[in-house]
Amino acid sequence: MKNASNTARDSFGSSFGVLVALAGSAVGLGNLWRFPYLVGQNGGAAFIIIYLAFVLLIGIPILLAEFIIGRRSQASARAAFQALAPGGHWGIAGVLAVLCCTLILSFYSVVGGWGVEYLVKAFRFDFSSMDNESLKNLFSAFSTSTWRPLLYHTVFLGMTAGIVIGGVKNGIEKFSKVMMPLLFLIMIGIAIRSLTLPGAEAGVDYLFKPDWSKVTSGTFLAALGQAFFSLSLGSGMVITYGSYVKKDANIVSLGTQTAVADTVFALIAGCAIMPAVFAFGISPGEGPGLVFITLPHIFSQLPLGGVIAILFFFALLLAALTSAISVLEVIVAFCMEEFKIKRGLAVSLVFLVIWALGCLCSLSQGVLADWKVLGKNIFDLFDYLSANVLMLIGGLVVVVFVGWKLGRKQMRDELTNGGTLRLPNWFIDTLLFLLRFLAPAAILIIAIFQVSE
Ligand code: PFF
Repeated sequence: MKNASNTARDSFGSSFGVLVALAGSAVGLGNLWRFPYLVGQNGGAAFIIIYLAFVLLIGIPILLAEFIIGRRSQASARAAFQALAPGGHWGIAGVLAVLCCTLILSFYSVVGGWGVEYLVKAFRFDFSSMDNESLKNLFSAFSTSTWRPLLYHTVFLGMTAGIVIGGVKNGIEKFSKVMMPLLFLIMIGIAIRSLTLPGAEAGVDYLFKPDWSKVTSGTFLAALGQAFFSLSLGSGMVITYGSYVKKDANIVSLGTQTAVADTVFALIAGCAIMPAVFAFGISPGEGPGLVFITLPHIFSQLPLGGVIAILFFFALLLAALTSAISVLEVIVAFCMEEFKIKRGLAVSLVFLVIWALGCLCSLSQGVLADWKVLGKNIFDLFDYLSANVLMLIGGLVVVVFVGWKLGRKQMRDELTNGGTLRLPNWFIDTLLFLLRFLAPAAILIIAIFQVSE
């Protein structure tokens, strides 16, 4: 049931719709592009185990906390804090979340644009005769050039805006419902192909047999950062989507299912990529170029590789789009509620701002490479400030807000839908402990390490 103040608010139509939209946000370039190369750089299975522990002990509690704030307040990022704690300064966290999403979408749209370009290349079977060196040159020539990346950034952002303009139920939910199952199927198909290559076992060992000697403090930092990025935490996304969730939905199960889907998907992406990397004798620690250089190289040598390349870059584009729409929705929902403007106008204005910032990110790979702030070009600066600073601040505020300010009673009330759902006491107590102590301690430790790096 909606209350009177929400009658004009859009909402998701079904529980499955909420789940695919949330999973669509979580599953993205973070799973297909960031997770595999971090696994490669951080020694394989040991990194994965630490990552899984962080998702369970810190990721899921923060996800549930953000859900509580969003669903309870039925408001966008800033207004949500204000509604639950009127008169305080908590709303600043919501403004920071909107800023965080602005930075994320600016560089995310550029990488999404690279995905569009590579899908076009895959359709032209461009990779079929190329060796590693020429693929490296191809990627660097493309990403540092001026016009094509700008064109594809515009195309990607245009598609994102086109979906968000349709609203929550008719745009975001409809798109995610069709595309997320398709994405899963494509990636499972590619994983099966990769796992059945001769020599794939070495990749499987790498993914599932831990070598603890490779673990350093950096492994923990990378794993926690990745958990935040991959589950879209601290960015106001779960608050905003949570605000569109009906009062009778079970948010504990929605939250855990989202985290499980995201994690399973990251593992499927690992199984699609690592066995092939090992089967072709390539170093797993290639870094960010893994997806745009190493994979096309592998595709070029596989039977039916041309078709697999098309499917892979199509999957990458879908995953990037369902995440990008959630980032845009956080900013659009904020603008609509704060400035009392219509969705169409909000999407158009935000499009212009992100488009301009995205152009700067794209050009910072080439002609603007010398524009540096804190020793980083604009692309890297936006990536760093969002994933390593603003998301952590956002996460910290959320856990303190729900753990200490709202407290046990309100938490329980929201998680059980006012007592209608059963939830054992130990669950609430454990969640409260994780939110009050473990999560803030972990975030503070990672922040201190980062500053002292
Ligand atoms: N979770 C997305 C990914 O893994 O690619 C990235 C992301 C989406 C971050 C939405 C933040 C956000 F609000």
